[in-house]
Amino acid sequence: MMHKVITIIGARPQIIKAAALSRVIQSYYSKKINEIIVHTGQHYDENMSQIFFEELSIPPPLYNLNVGSNTHGKQTSLMIEKIEDVIIKEKPDALIVYGDTNSTLAGAIAASKLLIPVFHIEAGLRSYNKTMPEEINRIVADHTSTLLFCPTHQAIKNLEKEGFKLHNRFCDINHPKIILSGDVMYDNALYFSKKAAQKSKFLQQLQMTNHPFVLCTIHRNNNTDVTERLNNIFTALSEISNEIKIVLPIHPRTKKILATQLLPSTYKKLQNNKNILITEPVSFMDIIQLEKNCNMLITDSGGIQKEAYFFKKPCIVLRPETEWIELLDTGTTILADANPKKILSAYQKLKNTSIDNFLPFYGDGNAAKKIAEEIVLFFTDNKKIPS
Ligand code: UD1
Repeated sequence: MMHKVITIIGARPQIIKAAALSRVIQSYYSKKINEIIVHTGQHYDENMSQIFFEELSIPPPLYNLNVGSNTHGKQTSLMIEKIEDVIIKEKPDALIVYGDTNSTLAGAIAASKLLIPVFHIEAGLRSYNKTMPEEINRIVADHTSTLLFCPTHQAIKNLEKEGFKLHNRFCDINHPKIILSGDVMYDNALYFSKKAAQKSKFLQQLQMTNHPFVLCTIHRNNNTDVTERLNNIFTALSEISNEIKIVLPIHPRTKKILATQLLPSTYKKLQNNKNILITEPVSFMDIIQLEKNCNMLITDSGGIQKEAYFFKKPCIVLRPETEWIELLDTGTTILADANPKKILSAYQKLKNTSIDNFLPFYGDGNAAKKIAEEIVLFFTDNKKIPS
């Protein structure tokens, strides 16, 4: 029997994450799962969205809700309204959400209120910092879900702390099931690693083949929107660029803000700095190729911290905390916040470091298969025992 699931995507990392499960559904479960992709339109620039569909062979979304940018409340409420319409029309058996963005939150609220089971992929992550919009989104998505797919053991521990119980019985929104699936991003890193080497020409375009460099990304709102933090980060990057080139594919929100938020002197220095190469946002093949070939990463992204580890590169995290705390124990990921002294000392400490002892925190590259199996099991064998 065919079961219909709606997959909600909206922001760049969700499009990438969804590729792993869509691939498995198309290859092994096309007779059991009918996946309908709904794009909220949270990310809408060509190089933040469309490019990934083409590159990662994801089926095109059946619906694009075109919500675009707005304040968090307006953006989220518009999504809830439009997702609700799609659910009412399509009558799915379940709805899948990924990660922690406003699109995740909207999908989880719209579906759970219509009593449609929510499956949350990347469940259980916590930064324990509720001033991050993502933390609120995670908590709500987890607490409205029926299947919670956890990428790590730590994610399961976090859910247990919030009262979730591990069980293997009948599950519904009141008795959610927690599953250790591994991380779909690790599946993707393994799957696309070779392809990226063949397809990406980005290093050649930058004339950086065989050159040492640091890969940097910055997009979190508490870095881009807080002048002091943004200036501190760029002061540290400018110091580091005296030693090594920095490649910085820039997120649209960071690009918009640089000229206005940086001190005029810092901005001028940045414009004249030939060792900091600021580029447009890059495709997934290009970012993988950059990650594989760089010496180190400096980032405030969650996904890129892990990709650094997947490709055995040290990483400086421009945040006060991380959801991926297992990385900190390795000593090759360092939290430096937006503190120039900490960023510079982390750079000095990590610049000659390599990761020799790779531990399988994120599974074995088969997370999406495990998720698809559990979804089919939910549809075929989730019987309530009469009480
Ligand atoms: C969102 C997620 C964040 C995720 C990130 C990945 C939330 C709360 N945040 O942050 O968790 O790590 O995506 O990129 O959902 N913009 C464009 N073009 C686009 C998209 C955005 O110009 O295609 C600009 C707009 O000015 C917009 C701003 O970037 O206001 C921020 O976009 P938004 O979707 O609100 O959040 P992100 O910062 O991308």
